[in-house]
Amino acid sequence: MNELIIVLDFGGQYNQLICRRVREENVYAEIYPYSLSIDKIKELNPKGIILTGGPNSVYEDESPKCSKELFELGIPVLGICYGAQLMAHCLGGKVSSAVKSEYGNTSIEFKDNSLFNDSFGETIVWMSHTDYIAEIPEGFEITSSSKDCAVASMANKQNKLYATQFHPEVVHSQRGKEIFHNFLFNICECCATWKMSDFIDEKIREIKNKVGNQKCLCALSGGVDSSVAAALMSKAIGNNLTCVFVDHGLLRKNEADEVENTFKNFDLNFVKVDAANRFYEKLNGITEPEQKRKIIGEEFIRVFEEEANKLGSIDFLVQGTIYPDVVESGVGEAQTIKSHHNVGGLPDNLNFKEIIEPLNLLFKDEVRNVGKQLGLPDKLINRQPFPGPGLGIRIVGEINAEKVKIVQDADAIYREEIEKYGLNILPNQYYAALTNTKTVGVKGDFRSYEYALVLRAVTTDDFMTADVYEFPWDLLKKISNRILNEVKGINRVFYDCTAKPPGTIELE
Ligand code: XMP
Repeated sequence: MNELIIVLDFGGQYNQLICRRVREENVYAEIYPYSLSIDKIKELNPKGIILTGGPNSVYEDESPKCSKELFELGIPVLGICYGAQLMAHCLGGKVSSAVKSEYGNTSIEFKDNSLFNDSFGETIVWMSHTDYIAEIPEGFEITSSSKDCAVASMANKQNKLYATQFHPEVVHSQRGKEIFHNFLFNICECCATWKMSDFIDEKIREIKNKVGNQKCLCALSGGVDSSVAAALMSKAIGNNLTCVFVDHGLLRKNEADEVENTFKNFDLNFVKVDAANRFYEKLNGITEPEQKRKIIGEEFIRVFEEEANKLGSIDFLVQGTIYPDVVESGVGEAQTIKSHHNVGGLPDNLNFKEIIEPLNLLFKDEVRNVGKQLGLPDKLINRQPFPGPGLGIRIVGEINAEKVKIVQDADAIYREEIEKYGLNILPNQYYAALTNTKTVGVKGDFRSYEYALVLRAVTTDDFMTADVYEFPWDLLKKISNRILNEVKGINRVFYDCTAKPPGTIELE
């Protein structure tokens, strides 16, 4: 069993980042609800505990608390922001509310080398708080201060209790990495044993034990998560796994073949269902985006259901749920698995014994790393997000096979030129879409009246907001020229200069 760091969740917005920072040091961390019982903590036997930030005030009755006993277990604790205030509050210090919040990059002066490598110095940290520690508990010392915050950090070294009012997990805290490193290795005495290869071996053992000789079914979308889940399951149970891949005719150019070719090399049963015509028929005459989404989702379920029923009795359903999906749907009170229908929605009436989510403790980059180690091609592993309804929501208005071909061909040229150009930073998502507008042009000596195509590219951290990507002009012109020369059915190319908000990343 790996050494473990427990991150107790008090509702802060950077909780996943804390977990990431720990894992980046090759120490395994998991997020648990703040209400995790002392008995459970003892059972988990962590090397250290981190209390996260949160939006509440510790002196309010209703705010999330932890028991004083947590600080008496002999396990090192690092409290961050709200977690720091909670430590002070629980141990007899005083927390008050400031008139003015301290927010953003702040200079602190430190005078202690337990969390920093040096004994004293100045550094920039990220602050985001209104409450502050007005009096430290007995046995503690102040280890850093800012202009407006006397207790920027405090420590009771004898009892291995540390607290920072600032957020070391955020990149703006210049020496945040150093703080985690020192907490993990000098204070918690961790040994950096969390390695992806160990995770894979351990997971394969666990799956083998659970599944034995029973049958598993995986809905494979060709995206990163379900592909890595399938590859991992195949290593564990070989041809007791069947993957059903539904080609709804709305995938990118050659994508269906690429997925099939990749999984041919794995020891599993691969079923590819060519359902394009079926989807086009259902979508015939439909122009409203939400209706399109609904039809594509439902038809996906019907096709998958038919294939699953053909296979007879299946014991386990495999899903590519990853850690952020679990955390975002409220790890709060329940690590107890919620079922995530992340492959276009899956049938509710199929009879499975249980759902297996082999990646539900991994972040996206860790999932990519597992995929790489399992031999999946880079092209698949580094795939940008692709919506479940696929090109269906990148063709404005009615969908038909001819329009799908235009978008596929244009999108393939767009991607090819971007890859060839060697941009320093790639957009986080980019694609070609077809408008429902025809415009007049001239081709050779003839008037043309054809569709206008849109190119979209955005930079974004979280896909909730996005900025327009600024391509070098020569690249954009080259892409446009190639598309207009090589793709039949369009005579004009637009570049979408809309940020999100007010636009969304997809056109529909
Ligand atoms: P929007 O268009 O809402 O997209 O700004 C944000 C991110 O979500 C993806 N997206 C979808 N993914 N089914 C999906 O699986 C959908 O219906 C869907 N709509 C948008 C989009 O590609 C972007 O990454």
